[in-house]
Amino acid sequence: MKFQITCIPGDGIGPEIVTEAKKVLDRVADVYGHEFLYTDVLMGGCSIDACGEPLTEEAIETCKKADAVLMGSIGGNTSTSPWYQLPPQKRPEAGLLKLRKSLNLFANLRPAYLYQELAAACPLKEAVGAAGFDMLIMRELTGGLYFGARSTVTENGIRKATDTLTYDETEIRRIAIKGFEIARKRKKKVTSVDKANVLDSSRLWRAVVNEVAKDYPDVTLEHMLVDNCAMQLVKDPAQFDVVLTENMFGDILSDEASMITGSIGMLSSASLNDTKFGLYEPSHGSAPDIAGKNIANPIATILSAAMMLRYSFDLDKEASAIEDAVQKALHDGYRSVDIYSDGMKKVSCSEMGDVIAQNIER
Ligand code: IPM
Ligand code: MN
Repeated sequence: MKFQITCIPGDGIGPEIVTEAKKVLDRVADVYGHEFLYTDVLMGGCSIDACGEPLTEEAIETCKKADAVLMGSIGGNTSTSPWYQLPPQKRPEAGLLKLRKSLNLFANLRPAYLYQELAAACPLKEAVGAAGFDMLIMRELTGGLYFGARSTVTENGIRKATDTLTYDETEIRRIAIKGFEIARKRKKKVTSVDKANVLDSSRLWRAVVNEVAKDYPDVTLEHMLVDNCAMQLVKDPAQFDVVLTENMFGDILSDEASMITGSIGMLSSASLNDTKFGLYEPSHGSAPDIAGKNIANPIATILSAAMMLRYSFDLDKEASAIEDAVQKALHDGYRSVDIYSDGMKKVSCSEMGDVIAQNIER
């Protein structure tokens, strides 16, 4: 089959890791007889430098025309990069937020899985690492604080900044449905995370999630306050299956979940709307400090490409082939620097891509 993929290499390590994901996709195309056609577009800092804005309408159109979008990472060092001297809506991150909104990508899936090969890299107690965990953070991606009205004003010589957190029930219902649907295909448990002891938006969140749960009697639902969840994630991560939560809580908790897998360089993600279309990107950022050194871990992006095959192209076998190829690379002892431990084979970003591509088989 033939698929059009718009690529957004972006900034920092983005171009390096997208190159490795393409390498693996090309190998899948060869082995399984598909054709993947790529078109690159700019987003983030590189787009600011070339076009004066973090995302052009043209780039959005190119994304819309594709079957799916594969992204690397965007942004630079927030303390030193001139991009962060610009007004907020002109900065790199504004491009990503605009793209998510323009494509209506309200459901962000971030799986956090501990490979037993990396149990030693898990910073938690040995017993927790040995028990393993396999969870999926379902983050609402187009509402809440990141999209509410905001302002900074000076009143009577005092600077004041405001951000607003709004959710309506339709936004909560559609992400809750996605959460329950996916739980059905996994371990049939949803942990809905909120701050219902303080926030109105969380109380509505909880009420709507309870309503949706009635249609999924086979799925166990529990509610958890976000501060407790942050604690439970490091105490007993095995308790979680699907973690359903709003935009900012999901942003924070998914970084925490990724770290306990051994490295943020392992975590893939899919951002979906109501169609087969999706944007696939690693959960990590652009790591400007290691950009251009060929030492980044490309696994999160490669696993994001696997999610693209599964969710947007319905190529389940091929997606599993990529996941197995990653597993085999780890099993055979190949490690990028972020997950390296004594006795393993240290490889560069491009070597890791080579190894994983070679592992792809029917
Ligand atoms: C992420 C990132 C983005 C977010 C930033 C870059 C806007 O941190 O994908 O988690 O907060 O959503
Ligand atoms: Mn984040």
